[in-house]
Amino acid sequence: MAESENIKWHHSKVTKEQRRDLNNHRSAVIWFTGLSGSGKSTISVELEKELYQLGIRTYCLDGDNIRHGLNKDLGFGPDDRKENIRRIGEVSKLMTEAGLVILAAFISPYRSDRDEIRKMMESGEFIEVFVDASIETCKSRDPKGLYKKVRAGEITGFTGIDAPYEVPVNPEITVNTDTESIEESVQSIMSYLKTNGFLD
Ligand code: PPS
Repeated sequence: MAESENIKWHHSKVTKEQRRDLNNHRSAVIWFTGLSGSGKSTISVELEKELYQLGIRTYCLDGDNIRHGLNKDLGFGPDDRKENIRRIGEVSKLMTEAGLVILAAFISPYRSDRDEIRKMMESGEFIEVFVDASIETCKSRDPKGLYKKVRAGEITGFTGIDAPYEVPVNPEITVNTDTESIEESVQSIMSYLKTNGFLD
């Protein structure tokens, strides 16, 4: 007998809708995907500040932070990256049930992994933000000195260099940090959230 057959789901007496009414806003996952150094974390931190000021209950999940704790057993091979994103998807799902707006900033290089999370969420609740920046821009920013280490042969399997990045096909939002300021990128996401009833 499969172990899961002995596990039964417990239903809460407080619904997601009741939590939403208490918060006065919808829950959502704003999922930032893009190369290392594209600006995912910077934009998500600025966006969270703005949402907080409007009274929206938020939480930021960020690649570097999660890999210090929940996912510290995972590396950067394809299977580990997949498992990394799967776990974050599960955490995001729980947090949306709790009524929060999640800002998730992960390279999440595989389209199929991102699509799996989209499928887990209620319709409209998964907002994919492609943080587009050329690899040249990311290399020149090199905020953590990682591209330098790649050049020196100290890191292999680096996204965009010798590991793949699959560009989103139909993201809800694309921001281009080659050409836009952080503030412009934040405002274009805010405008999407307003138009789609997340800030009512
Ligand atoms: S993934 O691909 O979604 O599982 O990656 P993520 O959890 O977002 O972690 C990305 C951060 O890890 C650092 N790092 C690497 N990135 C890409 N490839 C390799 N090999 C690698 N090794 C370490 C890097 O700092 C990433 O952070 P960001 O913020 O994206 O620059």
